[in-house]
Amino acid sequence: MISALSLNTHTASWWRRFEDDPGRKDTVRWKPPNTADQADRLTPPPIRRQDVNLPGMSTETPTFTFRPIGIVHSPYATAQEVPKGLGAEHRAEGTIEIFPEFADGLLDIEGFSHLFVLWVFDRSPWTGELVGTPPTDDRPHGVFATRSPRRPNPLGLTVVELLRREGGILHLRGVDMLDGTPVLDLKPYLSGIPAEQLRRGWLAAAEERAAGATPGSTQP
Ligand SMILES: C[S@@+](CC[C@H](N)C(=O)[O-])C[C@H]1O[C@@H](n2cnc3c(N)ncnc32)[C@H](O)[C@@H]1O
Repeated sequence: MISALSLNTHTASWWRRFEDDPGRKDTVRWKPPNTADQADRLTPPPIRRQDVNLPGMSTETPTFTFRPIGIVHSPYATAQEVPKGLGAEHRAEGTIEIFPEFADGLLDIEGFSHLFVLWVFDRSPWTGELVGTPPTDDRPHGVFATRSPRRPNPLGLTVVELLRREGGILHLRGVDMLDGTPVLDLKPYLSGIPAEQLRRGWLAAAEERAAGATPGSTQP
């Protein structure tokens, strides 16, 4: 059942105006800058312990409420069915059903070949662990250096190919979401970063090790 989702995040506290006064102990709530000069002074403040939302810890962190704009229909009923590991390909087809009250927002979307889909890991509660070993490696990595479904804010991000649109139904290729996954937003995918400028971090090293272990293959 889809309901409004309340996502607790300290993103807003990152986006605050930081006073220049070095003696100042606290930060000030972000205000829109009046001038370019003021905009230059927007600096991420240091992360404070009270900004980190750990289970059982009281916090004044702001909470944001999102509601789904639609739902994923995919061939995957359980997490075990979704291809995983090095070299895993996501070619599965599925649909996103945009709820009627948001369908006007799809105007002109069919001109884009690929979309970003922002969605909710609604079946992976966060355990509080910030470091874990993903199925693509045998070494631990920080949650923000992985695409783990278990994260402080359970947001999923998938790039899909838009095959066609039928009214409020988007037909897609490349879904990795479970059937019934709530969708929060869609945006056109536009990547201007040349492939040679992309660094793949620990994943590239894991792929090299796997290729060395099994010559000619990057499959796990
Ligand atoms: C590695 S995550 C990556 C998802 C997305 N591409 C991302 O980067 O945020 C993909 C895994 O999420 C899990 N998953 C998919 N839909 C989910 C859902 N609604 N709730 C919890 N886990 C889900 C599946 O086990 C799948 O293998």
